Amino acid sequence: MMSYTYQDFLAYFGVGGAHPGGMSFTKELLKHIPITRDSHVLDAGCGTGQTAAFLQKDFGCSVTAIDQHPIMIEKACQRFKEGNLNIEIREENIEGTSLPSNTFDIIIAESVTIFTNIQKVVKEYARLLKDDGIVLAHEMTAKQVLSQQEMDVLQDIYAISRVPTKEEWIQLFKDAGFLNVESIMAKNINDTPEFMLSNTIDPALYDIWDQHQLVTEKYADRLQYYVYRVQKS
Ligand SMILES: C[S@@+](CC[C@H](N)C(=O)[O-])C[C@H]1O[C@@H](n2cnc3c(N)ncnc32)[C@H](O)[C@@H]1O
Repeated sequence: MMSYTYQDFLAYFGVGGAHPGGMSFTKELLKHIPITRDSHVLDAGCGTGQTAAFLQKDFGCSVTAIDQHPIMIEKACQRFKEGNLNIEIREENIEGTSLPSNTFDIIIAESVTIFTNIQKVVKEYARLLKDDGIVLAHEMTAKQVLSQQEMDVLQDIYAISRVPTKEEWIQLFKDAGFLNVESIMAKNINDTPEFMLSNTIDPALYDIWDQHQLVTEKYADRLQYYVYRVQKS
């Protein structure tokens, strides 16, 4: 029997806006970010590409979208093709990309960094960002330091090894050379998720969905979500 990860569940179901507050929150957030037609934006861990598509349609900016999951890449490509969008899309691991340094005015990573080696990825954001650029990292955050038992449950379902507190996230960004780190509480908007289903869905993937729902309810008092708005100066 094939064993699946939480990322596989998201990919086969093609969950769009797979971050708390979904696209409604993203649209609200981006109203306050200085994006122009001249901006070059990176959607890091783009999933099915919903945010990347919105950015190009609404702001007319250049967008690069990367993800390491081949099914996500396939679905994002389909979206960009159907929308007639000119978005550069690449299958890449954000822990170390082949993208050139000092390239992006904005890097947006929505519910991505937490699933990676955080220290490596935050350094990669610093490398890819222009000196006057902005990183927007929408991240699961522990209200207080989690116990080993709580971490084991999260590791089991999400394959994450730590959930930093807000203060720890801010320190992680500062350690990577960012000077200005602001935290914005993510609004708990009840957004309707979008699905781009694969042709066949293994029933085992529904179990992951159930586990995710259970853990979300169980940890509602232990976790919160912030967007870290991060700059080098
Ligand atoms: C929770 S989903 C969020 C997707 C999208 N940002 C959204 O909000 O809908 C996390 C995404 O990050 C991608 N991802 C996880 N680790 C990654 C890595 N090391 N490099 C690139 N993408 C990664 C997954 O494949 C998945 O598409």
